[in-house]
Amino acid sequence: MSPDFVSRITDIDFKVDKGDTVSLFLQKNLSDFGVVVIPGQNLNPQEFIEAIENFGSIMPQQIKKFTLTELPLVGYNSSNDLPRKNGRLQVRGENYHTDHSNTLAPPKATALHAVQLPSSGGDTQFVDVRRAYEELPDSIKHEINGLFSMHVHQSSSSPRDLTKLTPNELAQIPNQLQPLVIKHPTSGRPALYLNTGRMEGIDGLNKDLSNTLIQYLYTHATQTRYEYRHKWGIGDVVVWDNQAVMHQANADYDPNEYRYLLRLMVSGVRLEPYIL
Ligand code: SIN
Repeated sequence: MSPDFVSRITDIDFKVDKGDTVSLFLQKNLSDFGVVVIPGQNLNPQEFIEAIENFGSIMPQQIKKFTLTELPLVGYNSSNDLPRKNGRLQVRGENYHTDHSNTLAPPKATALHAVQLPSSGGDTQFVDVRRAYEELPDSIKHEINGLFSMHVHQSSSSPRDLTKLTPNELAQIPNQLQPLVIKHPTSGRPALYLNTGRMEGIDGLNKDLSNTLIQYLYTHATQTRYEYRHKWGIGDVVVWDNQAVMHQANADYDPNEYRYLLRLMVSGVRLEPYIL
């Protein structure tokens, strides 16, 4: 059983089904649900771009070293690139986050297409941060109303090391104040906007209070009752709305097995605060 923020679409073949009706249907599903799973596709990188253009225009990858030379819009998550510590893979994205939250207009959506998978493990988890907001106590909703947090490439309290950037890449990476509660750009629903790897405190609050509040919200939002755990099958395309869910990867598979997924992002807009 999938939770109610996951839409599983089994009657689309991206190689055949194209056009405005398909795009509108997919965009509505993404906005209404938050995670869209389309299994059984077998797309090359160019076909993957065309499939994901149904959701909007493709956003260039920020980290160029994990992109295809012939099609740099397409990124990839490959287990071959991952360092190991004590025999365990150090997986990118291994704590709940939302993509590129330190940019003025973070990606509306991210999409992965599974090409090769380990025999077990390597799931991707999602939590619904709209429902997490709705279920906060009213006193907390009022406490965080109108607050903003600074998002940087890697926060000083990040639970993991993010990808090391070249000085040139780092110089181009912005810092951005983001609302702690956003108004979802299409549905208008309020949603928590959190990223422990990138949040460098809350504007106007001292460090201890900021950290306590961020940790409280993060612990609340990542409870299993808000979670969907996607067990990948080869050919799956999974698209998620970065303003409706957070996601995380898992390093629980055999480091000698190969996991390879293509990755695309869809351009987004500047985020607005949700004001009570
Ligand atoms: C990510 O994009 O954060 C990683 C997702 C995954 O590889 O499972």
